[in-house]
Amino acid sequence: MNEHASGPAAPVTVIGLGSMGQAVAAAFLKGGHPTTIWNRTAAKGRDLVARGAVLAHSPADAVRAGGLVVVCVLDREAAQGILGPVEAELAGRSLTVLTSLSPEEAEEMAQWAAERNISFLGGAIMATPDLIGDPEAASILYAGSHTVLREYRPALELLGATTYLGDSAARASLLETGLLASMYAMFAGFYHGTALVGTDGVTAEEFTALAVPWLKAMTTFLPGQAEIIDAGDYTTDQQSLEFNKGGLDHIIRISEARGIATDVMRPMAALVDRQVERGHGADSVARLVEGIRYPEA
Ligand SMILES: NC(=O)c1ccc[n+]([C@@H]2O[C@H](COP(=O)([O-])OP(=O)(O)OC[C@H]3O[C@@H](n4cnc5c(N)ncnc54)[C@H](OP(=O)(O)O)[C@@H]3O)[C@@H](O)[C@H]2O)c1
Repeated sequence: MNEHASGPAAPVTVIGLGSMGQAVAAAFLKGGHPTTIWNRTAAKGRDLVARGAVLAHSPADAVRAGGLVVVCVLDREAAQGILGPVEAELAGRSLTVLTSLSPEEAEEMAQWAAERNISFLGGAIMATPDLIGDPEAASILYAGSHTVLREYRPALELLGATTYLGDSAARASLLETGLLASMYAMFAGFYHGTALVGTDGVTAEEFTALAVPWLKAMTTFLPGQAEIIDAGDYTTDQQSLEFNKGGLDHIIRISEARGIATDVMRPMAALVDRQVERGHGADSVARLVEGIRYPEA
């Protein structure tokens, strides 16, 4: 049990008041938590102070005020630059770092904290600042100290849907990176489709009205694909690689004929081609994950 007050109205500290840190502090204030704030540029705390936050004069004062210390600065370098000099004040406290970190950086930070008797919980925010506070739209992935999450759950749940991924601190940033990869590839496909239909004057708005339900429907296939991938058995009688090769070649041909770039579609087509060339044409398209896992195989 942490020696500092936890529970429904535990005092919290937010260090870093960029657009995300401000949203985080605002959610704590709205939830009734005494909230102390600190930012390199103090002026960014003005609105929060008007809403009841206490602006600390130094990171050390900020840390001393809260049982839970939440850090949301730009990157690891900025976080470590603030936390390093206040390690004595942090000892015995709970630290949640919501700064985006690589898995390795999260692991190193957890190690640094453990050596100083600081309970460390890493968090990855899957949301933009305007969504913070809406559990339907904002999701925060946590990994590291389960004790910190248990003690401060009422406060952390004010930020968004809360998912705990285990005690390995690297896990939250690893999963965040996987989710972002999925998002970027989806957006890239949407941009390609928008450019393609635009060659006949279809507006992005018209296209989007069709794309949203289509993409939503396509996500219903993901659990089935996951089952195939986890079982490692790619035999199928539908949606084979050969079938999808035809589909991708078709998109690329039509795109070229209309004079638009095919940069987005070609890597996917190349992955399919490689699997087909290796004799897996009749297998499920889910086999592409093997081509990504083992580029040389
Ligand atoms: N915004 C989003 O949509 C979003 C979504 C998910 C995750 N995140 C993550 O949340 C974190 C914060 O993002 P943000 O959008 O709030 O960024 P931001 O608006 O650019 O704010 C950056 C914050 O970091 C501080 N900072 C930067 N360098 C510093 C240094 N050397 N020493 C001390 N403080 C320093 C800034 O202080 P000053 O005000 O003094 O410059 C400011 O508080 C990032 O890791 C970001 O990846 C953001």
